[in-house]
Amino acid sequence: MAKTVAFHLQKGGVGKTTISGTLACQSALGGHKTLIVDCDPQGNISSWFLKEPPKYELADVLQGKCYVNDAIVKVPAVDNLYILPTFGIGGTLKLYSETKLAEEPFVLQDLIAEASAGFERIVLDLSPGLGRLERSALIASDEVVSPMISEVFSLDGLEIFIHELVKIRKNMRASVKHNKVIINSYDSRIKQHRDIYAAALKAKNYEVYLIPVDPIFRKCQEAGKAPQGFKIKGRGMKDSTIAAFEKLDKDIWK
Ligand SMILES: Nc1ncnc2c1ncn2[C@@H]1O[C@H](COP(=O)(O)OP(=O)(O)OP(=O)(O)O)[C@@H](O)[C@H]1O
Ligand SMILES: [Mg+2]
Repeated sequence: MAKTVAFHLQKGGVGKTTISGTLACQSALGGHKTLIVDCDPQGNISSWFLKEPPKYELADVLQGKCYVNDAIVKVPAVDNLYILPTFGIGGTLKLYSETKLAEEPFVLQDLIAEASAGFERIVLDLSPGLGRLERSALIASDEVVSPMISEVFSLDGLEIFIHELVKIRKNMRASVKHNKVIINSYDSRIKQHRDIYAAALKAKNYEVYLIPVDPIFRKCQEAGKAPQGFKIKGRGMKDSTIAAFEKLDKDIWK
């Protein structure tokens, strides 16, 4: 059975896709058969890793139009990495989540359980917000890790998320673990960033990870590549970015 980890905070643009995609690459390049499930109707992680939309997408599986294995495709640029994609254009996942999903909140959990047999690790990229789709993805996960950025509103967002997660666990009989927070685009030269880091460290029972600002992410997303090994004008990932993902990879999957 694969371990399933979601990356989520209801706030937009905090690095959920960048971190889940980079961590999935780290895992796959480390020799572990890894699956990304694109649970975001925007389909950002799918357009990062796939040049052309394949025949089926996640919403097709959820609607019973195909089997889960029919919709999983290999990521061409990365060994051991597979994706169950979502196409942003067409909005099928959005429509499904706004209509049918209410009647079948555990459908994603069943899908992950089925996919789980063929993989060691599963990474879920979620959309911003905390609606039905995100809740269904959270109850399908063993663990959720929260990316945030160095803003007061992100800290507020984390508090709200922790509060909501208590209700989700109780109402949906779920046991998803949540004890890791990632401060993304961190710059230690900026006082506000250091202050937010200090405030986050006060959260009891949480481990706090830092990922620096690194232009490699935007570039490799444009190129459809893994950040690991990717170079712009001879420069690859910063050493601190490499170290951050090595530590995350070690801690998340242990
Ligand atoms: N550490 C970083 N350094 C530099 N750029 C970054 C970093 N993390 C993310 N970015 C860039 O910030 C933008 C937003 O990141 P991303 O799409 O991962 O956020 P998100 O939380 O998934 O957004 P959404 O809520 O829309 O799904 C992207 O263009 C990405 O390349
Ligand atoms: Mg995203």
